[in-house]
Amino acid sequence: MFKVCEEGYLAHVYYGKKVCDDDLGYLLRFDESPYTPATNDRDRASFMDSTPFEYPCFGLGDYRESAMMIMDAQGMSTCDLRYVSHKIYDGKPALEGLPATFATEKSGAQTLEVTMRDEHAHIEATLIYTAFDKLDVITRSVRFKNYGDSPVKLTRALSCCVDFDTHEFDMITLNGSWARERAVERCRLHHAKQLVDSCKGESSHQNNPFVALCEHKADEDSGEVFAFNFVYSGNFYAQAEVTQHKKTRFVMGINPLDFQWLLEKDETFTAPEVVMVHSDEGLGKMSRTFHDLYRENLIRGEYKDKRRPILINNWEATYFNFNTEKLIDIAREASKLGIEMLVMDDGWFGHRDSDNSSLGDWFVYEKKIDGGLKHLVDEVNKLGMKFGIWFEPEMISPDSELYKAHPEWAIQVKGRPLTLCREQYVLDYSQKEVRDYVYSMMRNILDSANIEYIKWDMNRQLTEVGSNFLPKERQRELWHRYVLGVYDLMNRLTTDYPHILLENCSGGGARFDPGMLYYSPQIWCSDDTDAIERLKIQHGTSMCYPCSAMGAHVSDCPNHTVGRNTPFKTRGHVAMVGTFGYELDITKIPQEDRDAVPGQIEEFKKYNALVRTGDHYRIGNMFEDNTWDAWMFVSKDKGEALFEFVQVMARPNERSRRIKLKGLEPEAYYYEESEPDKLISGSALMNAGINVAKIWNGDGLYGDYASKILHYIKK
Ligand code: DGJ
Repeated sequence: MFKVCEEGYLAHVYYGKKVCDDDLGYLLRFDESPYTPATNDRDRASFMDSTPFEYPCFGLGDYRESAMMIMDAQGMSTCDLRYVSHKIYDGKPALEGLPATFATEKSGAQTLEVTMRDEHAHIEATLIYTAFDKLDVITRSVRFKNYGDSPVKLTRALSCCVDFDTHEFDMITLNGSWARERAVERCRLHHAKQLVDSCKGESSHQNNPFVALCEHKADEDSGEVFAFNFVYSGNFYAQAEVTQHKKTRFVMGINPLDFQWLLEKDETFTAPEVVMVHSDEGLGKMSRTFHDLYRENLIRGEYKDKRRPILINNWEATYFNFNTEKLIDIAREASKLGIEMLVMDDGWFGHRDSDNSSLGDWFVYEKKIDGGLKHLVDEVNKLGMKFGIWFEPEMISPDSELYKAHPEWAIQVKGRPLTLCREQYVLDYSQKEVRDYVYSMMRNILDSANIEYIKWDMNRQLTEVGSNFLPKERQRELWHRYVLGVYDLMNRLTTDYPHILLENCSGGGARFDPGMLYYSPQIWCSDDTDAIERLKIQHGTSMCYPCSAMGAHVSDCPNHTVGRNTPFKTRGHVAMVGTFGYELDITKIPQEDRDAVPGQIEEFKKYNALVRTGDHYRIGNMFEDNTWDAWMFVSKDKGEALFEFVQVMARPNERSRRIKLKGLEPEAYYYEESEPDKLISGSALMNAGINVAKIWNGDGLYGDYASKILHYIKK
C-alpha cells in the first residue's frame, strides 16, 4: 500500500498480511518533526532521508540506497520523480525481451501501473505491480522512458524497493560455490548495508538472486517472511539497509556496478521482474508459494506438467572419452533396465577431446561419432530410447574454426589480452549476427536427427566486458545486452522446437534462477552428485525453486566430487526429489546396483506426480543438524503423502527420534502403505509424530547414509 503525498512523492505505507482497509495513510508520520516537508521546505533533506519511499531516486537528500540514478545531458545525477498518473487493469503484461511470470485463467491477476516523471531530466518511470489473485505474490518491474529531446543515461535501474518500518529481521540468502550451490545462510540484520550480488555476468554459484527477510522467531512453519527473487540471469544486486531510524530499506535489481543504459529521445528500458512473496506461516509456506507460482505462472512448454523422461547422461560415465560404440553400449544396457533417454554430453563436436578446444564448432566430430549423428540417434531410438544432446552455445574456444574466422566475435577490450577461463572465451551475444550464426549451426544439428532434449551449458564468467560492435557510449550496456541475447536465442529455440525438452546448466547450478526457468522447465542443480551433499543443495534450492525443476541424477561411487560411498538406494531417493536420471557407466557399475535400477525406476514413476505437483515440506535441516534429513510431499487434496528420511551420520547409542509429519489433514485418518490396517490420524502424525527407531529397526537405517521412504494414504 502506498500513497501519493501532497508534493507528488510516492510514499510507501504498508506491506504485509492482508488488511481490508484501502487507506492506511495515517501511518505516514508527516506530522512528526522533522517529517514536515509538505508545509516546510527547509526540512526537505531530513524528510527525504526518512520518508518511506516507493521508488527512491538519487540526489535530493535521501541518503539511503537509491533505486534509480541517471546521468542527464548536463552530466548531472540528481533525479526527482513525482506522480503523474496511474491505471489498474486485469491480467499481467509481458516484459519485452525478458522472462517474467504470467497470469493464467486459473490464477488471475491484476496490474497497477504508476507513472512518475522528473520534469527536469525528462525521464519517466512507470512502476509496474501485479498482484496474483490466489497467491501472496506481488511482482514488480519498472519501465523507463526518455520523453525529452536530450539523451539521458540510466546508471542504476533497480526493479524494486520496499521501505519496512522495522529493522527486526533476519536476512536469509543462498550462497555457495561450484559444487556446493545455494547453501542457506541466516544472519540478523545490523545497521548499515548488507548485500548479495553477482558481477560475473551470470546469477552465479556464489550468490543466488534470492533474499528473505523474516522475523527473528520465524522458522519453517511460523512467523512472517518477506521474500524476493529476481527473474534474471545476469548481474544482480539485493541489498538490505538498516537506517538511522531503525527501519529497513530493501532494494533488488540489475547490479548497478558497471551498468549504464543510454536512452535517446523516446527510447525505453525495462527493468527485469522481482517476485515478492509474503508468508505469515514461515519459510515453508514462502517456499510453497514460490513453487506454486513458478510451476503455474513461470515454467512453460510441453513438459511443464509432465513427468520428464528418465535419462542417462554420459558425462560422469566417460567424460570426453567416448565414441558411438560406447554410447550405444550404454544405451543398450540402460534401455534393458527401463531408462528412457540417452543424453550425449560435452565432447561430440569439432575436434573436442578435452575442454581446450572446439566451442563454437557445432558440427559432428566424426572420429568419435563414427557413422554420424543420425546413425547414433537412430540406433538409440531403435532401443526404444529418446536422444538428447549437449551444447554450450554462448562460448568460443580459441582453438576453433569459429575463432579463426571471427576472433572479433569474442567479448573483449580491444588491445587487451583476453582472459581464459576453462580455456574458452565468451561470444558477444549482444550481436544478432553472432546469435544467428550459432543458431544456424545448432539448427543443422537439431534438424539432422531425432533430438528430443538439449542441455544448454554455460561454463565461465565474463571478463574484459567490451564489444567490438557497440559504440563507445553503449559499451557499458553489454552486460545486460548479453543476457538479453541469451534470452533471445532461448526464445527462438523453444519456439522453433517446442517438442524439445530444454535443461539449463551452468558449470552445475550457476544459473539456477527464475529467468532460466521461463525457458527451461528444469535446471541442473549442481555438478556435485553426491547424495549427501545434494541434501543441502536441494534443501537450499527448494527455498524458492520447485523440486520439479531440479536436475538430479544417481551417479557412481565413490562419488567423483567428494569421494563418498553411499547406498545405491539412498542415491535414488535423493535424485527422486528432482527430475531423476542416471549419470554413470551403466555397463560397469556393480551387478547389484544394476539389478536395483528397475525397482528404483518403478519407485520414481510411482511418486513422481506427487513430487512434481504436491506441496513440499522441509522437516530436517542439514544446515542446522547434519546427522539426518527428512522432507515430505503432500498432494494438494491431502489424499496422499510421501515422507523421505536419510540417516546421514549413525551415532552410537542413538535413541529413537520422533519426527512430526506436516501438511496432512488433521481430522483424516491415514495408513502407511505397508501397514494398511493401522490407521493414524493426521493430527497424531503431525502433533505426536512417528517413531524413527521403531519403524526402521532392522532396515539398516542406522548405517551411515541409509534412507527410507514412507507412503501415507488417506483412508
Ligand atoms: C558442466 C556441467 O555442469 C556438467 O554436467 C557437464 O556438462 C560439463 N559442464 C561438460 O563440460
